[in-house]
Amino acid sequence: MNERMAIFEFARELALEAGEILLKGFRSPGLAVSYKGVSNPVTNVDRESEDFLYGRIRDRYPGHGIVAEEGHRVEERGDYLWYVDPLDGTTNFAHGVAHFSVSIGVFSKSENRVVAGVVYDPCRGELFSAFAGGGAFLDGEGIRVSASADLSRSLVATGFPYDKNVSKDNNLAQFSRILPRVQCVRRFGSAALDLCYVAAGRFDAYWEMKVSPWDIAAGCLIAEEAGGVVTKFDGTPYDIVVPEVLAASSKLHTLLLGLLSAE
Ligand code: IPD
Ligand code: CA
Ligand code: CA
Repeated sequence: MNERMAIFEFARELALEAGEILLKGFRSPGLAVSYKGVSNPVTNVDRESEDFLYGRIRDRYPGHGIVAEEGHRVEERGDYLWYVDPLDGTTNFAHGVAHFSVSIGVFSKSENRVVAGVVYDPCRGELFSAFAGGGAFLDGEGIRVSASADLSRSLVATGFPYDKNVSKDNNLAQFSRILPRVQCVRRFGSAALDLCYVAAGRFDAYWEMKVSPWDIAAGCLIAEEAGGVVTKFDGTPYDIVVPEVLAASSKLHTLLLGLLSAE
């Protein structure tokens, strides 16, 4: 097995194991919720999952860098940088809503791109994954974005930023332009799964602003490898450190890009 494939397999194993940690803590009496901002929660289970993922990646790949949402960071000279969201969908988790995931994206500095991505939904037992140039998978079966070209029949997903109470740049303008034009809009609360649902053809498109690299690294690769067009709001290819993303099949992408950029 080559190095890249070994990394991919390891990321899949880790996501499944971290998913067990999430399930064990879900709706449990020991759940402790605190707040990083007015509406931005974190739980003891986010931290337990991150401690586990960080420890396992460090043990196996001491030369790799890691950027994890709840604070674990390590810079190494090696080519690979792991972006880890130990629990994507914490608001759902904290409210007992069964829609959240573990998201792991592996970025290659020399290639300047995400090369492996894994998103695991432990409530449904669904493992989404992709490696660069190798296609996208749900539980080992290939997946493709929807063929929809008709906005009025399209189900699209989005999210709203945690600073929506203090910032006018809170997606309401984009939302109000897009909502009347599509079949409907969903706000499910896990950016990583939103991108995977585009990859699997469940959602026809997804857009969001003010996302972080750990939210989207894995999902952008999975949506792209499933045949989606994944860009910033100016139509140029997505960049995980730029906090905005639009993912869709190519025809819908063009139409939505126009709506996103319209003043
Ligand atoms: C959040 C979720 C949500 C998205 C936010 C993210 P978290 O991640 O992905 O769907 O709208 O932008 O921050 O805080 O649950 O890991
Ligand atoms: Ca997240
Ligand atoms: Ca998180």
